[in-house]
Amino acid sequence: MFDITKIARPNILTLEPYRCARDDFQEGVLLDANENTYGPSFNCSKDLNRYPDPHLVPLKQRLCDFRNGERATDQPLKPSNICLSVGSDGGIDMLIRCFVKPSVEKVLVCPPTYPMYDTCCSVNDVEMVEEPLDLENFQIRPKAILRRLSEDHSIKLVFITSPGNPTGTKIKEELIMEVIEGVERMSWNGLIVVDEAYIDFCPEGSSFAVFVNKHKNLVVLQTFSKSFALAGIRLGISYSADEVSNLLNIARDPYSTNRETATAAMGATSKKAIDLMKLKCRKVNEQKKIVLERLKGIKGVRNIGGMDGNFILIQILNDEGEPDGKRAYEIYWKMATERKVVVRYRGGEMGCEGCLRVTIGRSEENERLVGELKELVSGPRSQKCREGEPF
Ligand SMILES: Cc1ncc(COP(=O)(O)O)c(C=O)c1O
Repeated sequence: MFDITKIARPNILTLEPYRCARDDFQEGVLLDANENTYGPSFNCSKDLNRYPDPHLVPLKQRLCDFRNGERATDQPLKPSNICLSVGSDGGIDMLIRCFVKPSVEKVLVCPPTYPMYDTCCSVNDVEMVEEPLDLENFQIRPKAILRRLSEDHSIKLVFITSPGNPTGTKIKEELIMEVIEGVERMSWNGLIVVDEAYIDFCPEGSSFAVFVNKHKNLVVLQTFSKSFALAGIRLGISYSADEVSNLLNIARDPYSTNRETATAAMGATSKKAIDLMKLKCRKVNEQKKIVLERLKGIKGVRNIGGMDGNFILIQILNDEGEPDGKRAYEIYWKMATERKVVVRYRGGEMGCEGCLRVTIGRSEENERLVGELKELVSGPRSQKCREGEPF
């Protein structure tokens, strides 16, 4: 049963929110925050000498309207459900810092998955345990996850990546629900975090964000880096029940969403900009199909992942049709150095032997990718090549 006092770290539960005079007064001669009223010494936006708004309620309202509009529920999202972070990487780190005691408690992930969970666990001195995806279809295995949680109450967070990275496979709703509803019936106390970095490449209404008020142990992470094409502004969003989001907001650096980022995010969340964003996601999806069709014509390459992100996972095969890690690494390396097309080698991940992850680009970039890949795959092999090493 959900009990925030048993989930959060005691030091976070007792944390006093950071308050400043600007929370109460935003107008007049502002000499409260040790800003420099002489202004910056180069030509830039005139407000940059001022600290940004720590609450950003209008932006949060737009995000709520967007997600509520996609999927109606009887407990719709409101701004207090949101905590903004420096990218969703920042959200991952914040969740671990708030809810997992270093060197005592654990995080569960489902490999193959996004490597940043591991990095954040290491930085926070938190053990990461694994309950792999079903490697036949890259779906989670709810029963195995629930069994693990019932056996190990020191696990505090479960990361489910949907669509998965590097798999490109959206996790079926009923499987995520099985985990969420399963933990509600158990004595396990923790949070199920659904990382939806790529959700807008899926059919509209696929996000779980609108369920956070109903399922209090659910947290949904999203980002401006993918569908909104704003990786440079570093803005992540977490949606959670008020009990959880209040704590995250108390623990966060109050000014971590800077003025430029907030302005860009407001621009990106107008009705018109969201419509255009969706149109561009559809274009990416069309290109994804074209790339996959073209790759089918190349012997020694096959797609093994899903079609739900803005990338695909391809496997390089040997003459016997088996995954070939060395060859994949060679091709990755030569693509980047000789052909100047950079893809990501993912062959070291569980269930991804010989795999490359390829982002879907613009039509001309994709043409280039397919052409260069075709030439390299059908060309001679390097004798020197060893997986994981440049040659
Ligand atoms: C699954 C997943 N989650 C989170 C992120 C982090 O996104 P950002 O920190 O740019 O918001 C990524 C980035 O590639 C990702 O693939």
